[in-house]
Amino acid sequence: MTNPSLLILPGDGIGPEVMTEVVKVIDWYGAKRGLSFDVSEDLVGGAAYDKHGAPLHDDTMAKAQGVDAVLLGAVGGPKYDDLDFSVKPERGLLRLRKEMDLFANLRPAQCFDALADFSSLKRDVVAGLDIMIVRELTSGVYFGEPRGIFEEGNERIGINTQRYTESEIDRVARAAFELARKRDGKVCSMEKANVMESGILWREVVQKVRDEDYPDIELSHMYADAGAMQLTRWPKQFDVIVTDNLFGDLLSDIAAMLTGSLGMLPSASLGAPMENGRPKALYEPVHGSAPDIAGQGKANPIACILSFAMALRYSFDQGDEATRLEKAVERVLADGKRTADLLGEEGVQPVSTSEMGDAIVAALDASL
Ligand code: IPM
Ligand code: MG
Repeated sequence: MTNPSLLILPGDGIGPEVMTEVVKVIDWYGAKRGLSFDVSEDLVGGAAYDKHGAPLHDDTMAKAQGVDAVLLGAVGGPKYDDLDFSVKPERGLLRLRKEMDLFANLRPAQCFDALADFSSLKRDVVAGLDIMIVRELTSGVYFGEPRGIFEEGNERIGINTQRYTESEIDRVARAAFELARKRDGKVCSMEKANVMESGILWREVVQKVRDEDYPDIELSHMYADAGAMQLTRWPKQFDVIVTDNLFGDLLSDIAAMLTGSLGMLPSASLGAPMENGRPKALYEPVHGSAPDIAGQGKANPIACILSFAMALRYSFDQGDEATRLEKAVERVLADGKRTADLLGEEGVQPVSTSEMGDAIVAALDASL
């Protein structure tokens, strides 16, 4: 039997630092659980631009298509602000999402008990929170045509297009309903059907999929602005939220802060099943490249480590091992270990990125 393959793309800013800690965890699974991976590494984002003049080399794209799962750190940084739009670091990530057709982006927001006081919301609003945002990731205004900056009369006009086909809505709705079946059986769909035709179609198709194939699921609909408000008012009313690419981008950042820090949130981007039955998959933290703290050992590696836990669960059918890793993270937080993004308690000294990684590996050892 050959080992499952993983392509690691650390990217820019804090990406490489947090990925170093994930590699410790991957190595631990090989050494202690007999779960070895064929790991290869490559460049994405600004790092790829510096070497190749493009934020994703064709060879890297081909590699990503060929592996069982891709693990990505973060892309972007001020150094690349003035680059032409077509070669900005973010384009590398968007190309991966689009060409791998990773239409279902799972962004779980769980509030670890030890961190409930770090949220900007009151403890009782967030303690025990466990919601899943399913963001459509390969269509909508991120990719719709026409797009561009054009001349019109004597001024310029910037255009982007929100566009969804029925089948694009259908498949992401199914992904959300399937997840809800393994959770509390509730889905809330968010759009702006009050002002956008694409929102009207979104609502209709989601309802139709539910009525035809998922009658056991409790489905509700909300306008995305009201949804944002409800997410901060009483987030525990939600189980699974399904929404489009742009609203999902915004709503998942809100959800992230409910958990105390953006440094805690993992994500999985899944596509259709490959020949071996595994879904096309890319795992990445929700946070960005945080150039202001890059290279200083201050970054929180937990979001990236929890992204690997999602890989264990969704790509490698190792749900128990994923839970083991999540519990190890929980244990380390309960022991009071905090990276700099999680400070605030009196007398607590921050641990470095690598100390946090080591502590999680030690907690994994202790779990045996
Ligand atoms: C995210 C990020 C990306 C997005 C950027 C880096 C292109 O904000 O994954 O949420 O807008 O999708
Ligand atoms: Mg975002």
